[in-house]
Amino acid sequence: MNKTNIYQQRRIALAKQISSKTGGGIAVVSTAPELTRNRDSEFPYRHDSDFYYLSGFEEPGATLVLKVAANGALETHLFCRPKDPEREIWDGIRLGPEAAPEKLGVEFAHSNHELDQKVGELLADQDAVYIRLAESAEADRRLRHWMKQVRGQARAGVNPPSEFHDVEAFIHEMRLFKDAHEIDIMRKAAAISARAHIRAMQICKPGMREYQLEAELLHEFRNSGAQSVAYNSIVAGGENTCILHYRAGSTELRNGELCLIDAGCELDGYASDITRTFPVNGKFSGPQRTLYDITLAAQEAAVAMTKPGNTFMQPHEAALRVLTQGLLDEKLLKLADLGSLDNAIESGAYRRFYMHRTSHWLGMDVHDVGSYRETIENADQADKPWRILQSGMVITVEPGLYVRPADDVDQAFWNIGIRIEDDAVVNDSGCELISRGAPVKADEIEALMKS
Ligand code: GLY
Ligand code: MN
Ligand code: MN
Repeated sequence: MNKTNIYQQRRIALAKQISSKTGGGIAVVSTAPELTRNRDSEFPYRHDSDFYYLSGFEEPGATLVLKVAANGALETHLFCRPKDPEREIWDGIRLGPEAAPEKLGVEFAHSNHELDQKVGELLADQDAVYIRLAESAEADRRLRHWMKQVRGQARAGVNPPSEFHDVEAFIHEMRLFKDAHEIDIMRKAAAISARAHIRAMQICKPGMREYQLEAELLHEFRNSGAQSVAYNSIVAGGENTCILHYRAGSTELRNGELCLIDAGCELDGYASDITRTFPVNGKFSGPQRTLYDITLAAQEAAVAMTKPGNTFMQPHEAALRVLTQGLLDEKLLKLADLGSLDNAIESGAYRRFYMHRTSHWLGMDVHDVGSYRETIENADQADKPWRILQSGMVITVEPGLYVRPADDVDQAFWNIGIRIEDDAVVNDSGCELISRGAPVKADEIEALMKS
C-alpha cells in the first residue's frame, strides 16, 4: 500500500461515518497557521495533526474539504498555496494545485485563494457541516462568511446547512487506533529517542550543564533524521528533578545528584516520549537507588496491566499501589497516621510525592487525542467508564516519585525526583515496549555510564 492510499482510506472511513450519521454533508479541516516568532522570523512550521492524518500534506496554508453523498461517496477538494516562482525562491517549492491530485490522491485541488468562494458553493443544499467547533475567532469568521454566501442564495431556492457537528470527535477516535504503518514509524521514533538517552547518559559527568545534555539529545535526534522534538526536552539536575515540566536550563549537574531527562523526537509526524533518571556521577546513592527501584517496580506493575480488556486506569492503579507501599516502607508516608495502604491511596496522601497520572495516549501528538472514557450516549461524563484498552492503542507508562525538602521528610530523600517513562503499544496479548532501547534497570544504567 503506498502512502497516498493510507490517507485516502482514512478519508473514505471518515466519509462513511458522516454518511451514516447525517446522510452526507461537508467536512472542513484546515492545517495549522504559520506563527511569527519575532519580526521576520517564524517558529519552525508544524502541520496540524488531524489535517496531516487525512492528507499526508505538510505545507502550510492548506484546507481539506470532503463532500460526502448520502451513500457515502466521497469527493475530496484540497485547497493549497498556488505555485509562485517569486515566493518559492524565498520559501521553497510548493506542490501547487496542479500537481496535488496526482500526488495526494484528491479528486480536486484549488488555490487557497479560492477557498471562501468554493466552500460557499459546496455548502449549498447541504444539511450537515463537520468542522472544528469553537476552534478560533478566525475559523468562526470564515464559517460566517461561507454561511452568508449560502444564505444570500436563498431566493434562488438554495438551502443553507442547519446542522453543525464536531469533526474532531470522529477523527480523534480514528487516530486512537494506530495501524501497522503508524506503529512502524513510532517504533523508529522511539528507537532514535532511546539512542539519544543513551548518548546523554554516556556523556554526562559532574560539572556539565543541563543545556549541554539537551544539545546531545538534539544531535542524536537530528542526526538520525527526526524532524523535531515531540515536545520541549526536560533535562533536570538535582532539585529540578522535582519540577514536572522543567525545561533544560543552565543548572550545573552536580556530583551525588540525579539527572532526569524526559525527551523524545518527532519522526514523520509521530511522537516518542521517554524519561530516564540516572545519577550524574554514574552511581546511585543508597536513597536514590531505593526510590529508583520502587519507581521501576511500579512501572513493571503498570506494564503488566497494559493489555487488551483492561481499562486505561488499571495500569495507573497498579503503579499507585506499588509506589504508595514503597512510600510507607520508607516512612515517607506514616502507616501510624494512615492506618493502611488502602487508606493511603484513597485519602490521596501519596499525592504529595506522586501528583500525576501514569499514562496518556501517544501518537501524532505527545499527549495524543482520543477519549479516555467509553462512549455512552446521554451519560454524564463521570458515569462513563474508563476506556477499555484495545490492540493498536499506544500509551505511555510513566510513574514517578518526587521528594521536596520538608521538615517531616527524611533529609536523605530530599530533592530526589525520579520518573521512568516508556511507550507501550497494546497488542493482542499485552503490550510491546517500543522505547526499551534505553536501559532502565539501575544496574544496567550504572554499567552503561561506567563503560
Ligand atoms: N513529556 C510529557 C509527558 O511525559 O507527558
Ligand atoms: Mn509522557
Ligand atoms: Mn515524557
